[in-house]
Amino acid sequence: MKVLLTGANGYIGRRLKGRLLYEDSSLRLLVRNPKSLTPNAKVEILQGDAFDIDSLERALEGVDVAYYLIHSLQHKNYRELDKLSAHNFLNAAIKKKVKRIVYLGGLGVKEQASTHLLSRIETGEILSSRPQEIETVWIRAGVIIGSGSASFEIIRHLTEKLPIMVTPKWVKTLAQPIGVDDVVSYLVGAKDIVMDENVIVDIGSQKMTYKEMMLACANALGLRRWIFPLPILTIQLSSYWLNFFTPVPYNIARSLIEGLSSEVIVQNGNAKVYFPDITPLCFESAVKQAIHEMEKNQVFSRWSDASGGEDVWEKEFISDSSSALLLDRQKVKLEDVSKQSLYRVCCSIGGDEGWFGYNWLWEIRGVMDKMLGGAGLNRGRRDAYHLRVGESVDFWRVEDLKENERLLLRAQMKVPGKAWLEFKIQGDEFIQTAYFYPRGLLGRLYWFILIPIHYFVFKDMIRSIVEKARNLKRDK
Ligand SMILES: NC(=O)c1ccc[n+]([C@@H]2O[C@H](COP(=O)([O-])OP(=O)(O)OC[C@H]3O[C@@H](n4cnc5c(N)ncnc54)[C@H](OP(=O)(O)O)[C@@H]3O)[C@@H](O)[C@H]2O)c1
Repeated sequence: MKVLLTGANGYIGRRLKGRLLYEDSSLRLLVRNPKSLTPNAKVEILQGDAFDIDSLERALEGVDVAYYLIHSLQHKNYRELDKLSAHNFLNAAIKKKVKRIVYLGGLGVKEQASTHLLSRIETGEILSSRPQEIETVWIRAGVIIGSGSASFEIIRHLTEKLPIMVTPKWVKTLAQPIGVDDVVSYLVGAKDIVMDENVIVDIGSQKMTYKEMMLACANALGLRRWIFPLPILTIQLSSYWLNFFTPVPYNIARSLIEGLSSEVIVQNGNAKVYFPDITPLCFESAVKQAIHEMEKNQVFSRWSDASGGEDVWEKEFISDSSSALLLDRQKVKLEDVSKQSLYRVCCSIGGDEGWFGYNWLWEIRGVMDKMLGGAGLNRGRRDAYHLRVGESVDFWRVEDLKENERLLLRAQMKVPGKAWLEFKIQGDEFIQTAYFYPRGLLGRLYWFILIPIHYFVFKDMIRSIVEKARNLKRDK
């Protein structure tokens, strides 16, 4: 069986890819930025985009089962984009005679759906709209619990940071959470189930309210928490509140909060009918599993892994090279420090390690970013030592990695322009460069006001990196 996986660098896609590799089928991945995946001899990686029909048709050539995990939540007009993308995919899949599409959408009923859920429902409806020509398995999940999942990160951050919570009344809404490993098991099984017509499979473990989830999470973390629902908290206030206390930026917090007022519970018994061998873990066990993965530094994917289709640096750099480029460049000779140690230290940047000096200034910048609705510093890192292209590091994203040569980070904080931070080892030099393409007058003002701060921060940064790399050598 030839299988195509789309959204392969997203939260679910990365985990599903890991499981499909053990299946007796050949696997092809469709991604917008192939650099975001580590090459693997067992997998064919194709570059493509749901809005580029030729690339879709190339990817679907000879495919039996195609997984559809594409979602454009990071864009403001995601509902329209998601509809178009589903139409393109369905048409290309039918043209290429694909037998089955497997889609993972959200749980809930259309009448009470938020815009986010509605978009997930519309996608499912489009993908299953031509049953005479292609089969569709539409799996619907609500709150997914797993290390790095947006829902779990929200619940965990709120629980850890706030001993007493005054919450909106949605904490009393019923939901049916499910562990991410179980979601992946259903998806893997979906390619093989025998069915006479298209099926919708609702999945979830026990029914519980968000308040019960937070208290159970506190329990698993060994904490005692008190929650008091207050009916006057609005969606907007709650979104700011989530944005401030959790790693989730305002636009994503808002889409999620809008959905929390309606129940997300299983509407059909198809999970038992078509997947009798899967019994989902209970909420507490799924939370323990997620915490275990985090403690062991084994977070396989995170909600912030998807790039949102941001252009890669080279492309923008070349196309933008006529515009004003401001930069801060620091250089040192390698002398007694090896390339390997330097690269290793650079790759440990952010998260608990901090930003190699003036961490308090970075913290202030993180708080300011949160106040502007950005991601802030508390997205942290997936893994304390290793990075991969596309993943987030605090309010940066890894844009390029070349072992012992280069690490390039792109700023995702709210800035009036585009900013990158590059660490490069070239010949006998270590070069650290902050690039900035200002947007209008504000962008230029921003850069020039920050020059004195940058002077200290970047000088100290390169000095600390070299110092740490030197110590790393001594520690060996
Ligand atoms: N995660 C959850 O908690 C959860 C819960 C319930 C249901 N679901 C459903 O599960 C599915 C997957 O969710 P997820 O959390 O894994 O999403 P995700 O992490 O946001 O990943 C979305 C994927 O879609 C890709 N994509 C977006 N636009 C594309 C385009 N034009 N062409 C090609 N690829 C494109 C992204 O690639 P880039 O990296 O290039 O942007 C990314 O790989 C969604 O349908 C979602 O509704 C998820």
